Amino acid sequence: MEHENNNNNWSGQLGFLLAAAGSSIGLGNIWRFPYMTGTNGGGVFVLIYILVVLLIGVPLMMAEIALGRAAGANPVRAFSTLAPARSPLTMVTATLLLIGAVIMLVTGNPAGALIVGAIAAMFIAWGWKTVGFFCGLVPIILLSYYGVIGGWTLIYIADSIRGVNNFTTIQGADEVMKPILYASGNWKWGVVAGQLVFMAACLSISLAGVRKGIERWSKMLMPLLFILMCVLIVRGLTLPGAVKGLRFFLEPDLSKLTASSIIAAVGQAFFTLSLGMGIMLTYGSYLSRKTDITKATFGVIALDTLAAVMAGIAIFPAVFAMGFPASGGPDLTFKVLPAAFNMIPGGLGVIWNVLFFLMLAIAALTSAISLIEPPASILSGEFKMSRKWSVITVTAVCSLLGVFCALSMADWSNLSAIGKVVEKIWYGKAPGSFFDMLDSFCCNWILPMLGLATTIYVGWVWGSRYALKELREGNDGSLDNSLWLLLAGFKAKDGGKDRRYLFTFGILWGAALRWLCPVLVLLAFFNCIGVIKL
Ligand code: PFF
Repeated sequence: MEHENNNNNWSGQLGFLLAAAGSSIGLGNIWRFPYMTGTNGGGVFVLIYILVVLLIGVPLMMAEIALGRAAGANPVRAFSTLAPARSPLTMVTATLLLIGAVIMLVTGNPAGALIVGAIAAMFIAWGWKTVGFFCGLVPIILLSYYGVIGGWTLIYIADSIRGVNNFTTIQGADEVMKPILYASGNWKWGVVAGQLVFMAACLSISLAGVRKGIERWSKMLMPLLFILMCVLIVRGLTLPGAVKGLRFFLEPDLSKLTASSIIAAVGQAFFTLSLGMGIMLTYGSYLSRKTDITKATFGVIALDTLAAVMAGIAIFPAVFAMGFPASGGPDLTFKVLPAAFNMIPGGLGVIWNVLFFLMLAIAALTSAISLIEPPASILSGEFKMSRKWSVITVTAVCSLLGVFCALSMADWSNLSAIGKVVEKIWYGKAPGSFFDMLDSFCCNWILPMLGLATTIYVGWVWGSRYALKELREGNDGSLDNSLWLLLAGFKAKDGGKDRRYLFTFGILWGAALRWLCPVLVLLAFFNCIGVIKL
């Protein structure tokens, strides 16, 4: 794994840092974080979010990367080599899952009960390998609809250049966008084409390999992304009335902060940091033992948070200055913003739109390529396929599933036969569309469960003591330095080798991983699926 010149690993810390940052910085930063912040207390929410990221994001990301590097293998292997795949905890987990399934059945959620019950059965049969299996499955599902959104960004760039997107009202944007977002009329197959072009771009990067593909492109695209954001920020902030947007985004407002804001921050941290689906694990398996995982983790998290805050500063001043209401999600990016950018005086609307959608496309692309890795590494590691064919197979499956997503953004009308079946399974209350179904299955159910399983596996089954050993490889001693000395900026004189301090960052990390992370993640999960209402 550590041979130089090997295209299957990172060239060093910078390559890993930018690739991991590329994975984390995506739509979550651009259309989710700014709106979530604006509606949850502004500046106070940012502080809470940073706290959540430090308390759960940092420990979990370090754990995932350490697990991957220690195993030097794909997720399925990682969850079965470092500790026995089956342990008493496996049975405890399976039993808890079964109890959960029964509760769901009784409380009128049969579809949820079926899913959880099936996972319990897999746990009994495969033990912790089950987690590895889902690390292969979830990215495939996510990429299916991430690819559709990637396709929209490409269509938008092309249309802006052609001058089709020169609307100045949200209604105008709605008229142009609706057929695209809903894949109706002439756009039915145009959207599919956009998605396929986006997936082809992912494929060509991934096929070039870890170092010559993912790393090389991340090194070019990530700086470009930040430059584009800076340009948009300068433009937004210099518009008259921009301050209103800044105030919406960042002005502290304690009345908007509730318990559910904290839970929302947990969910956001998970999604935006690409945690809980084996991505950081797989990226970690390509990492040399000379790299300091702790430092790299802080680097990725700092870049991701910076990008999220910068996105808010780029977006809301322009939106408010042009007199539009704040919103989030696809509505913000595909309707409000294009109209706002077009109305910027000076007749350069096309340029602002193209720059913005280019930024969005880059963010989506570097995240999408990371989603190919876990399933592809499982195919090549467990089924002995070549990297080339693993990557091609994964991309082909995602593209095919993505066609269904593209055709079903609005409702099931393009896929009425499938819709009917799903409705039957879902006992009459089918999710709005195929896209919604995959999204809620992944983000509300599987992601938090996988995150929880990862903390338990690394913290309790493999053991935080052994994980800490892995983290020490490449570390400059900061993990074993007294926390007080560390906070005061002192380096451990002996590189922390004699471990004489009681209260170190490493110890704090282990405690957070074993106790704090599982509890917070579980709370977020229960809140998400409606078991508790915060
Ligand atoms: N982190 C990406 C974002 O914030 O949009 C999304 C994402 C990418 C989630 C990759 C999960 C993932 F594995």
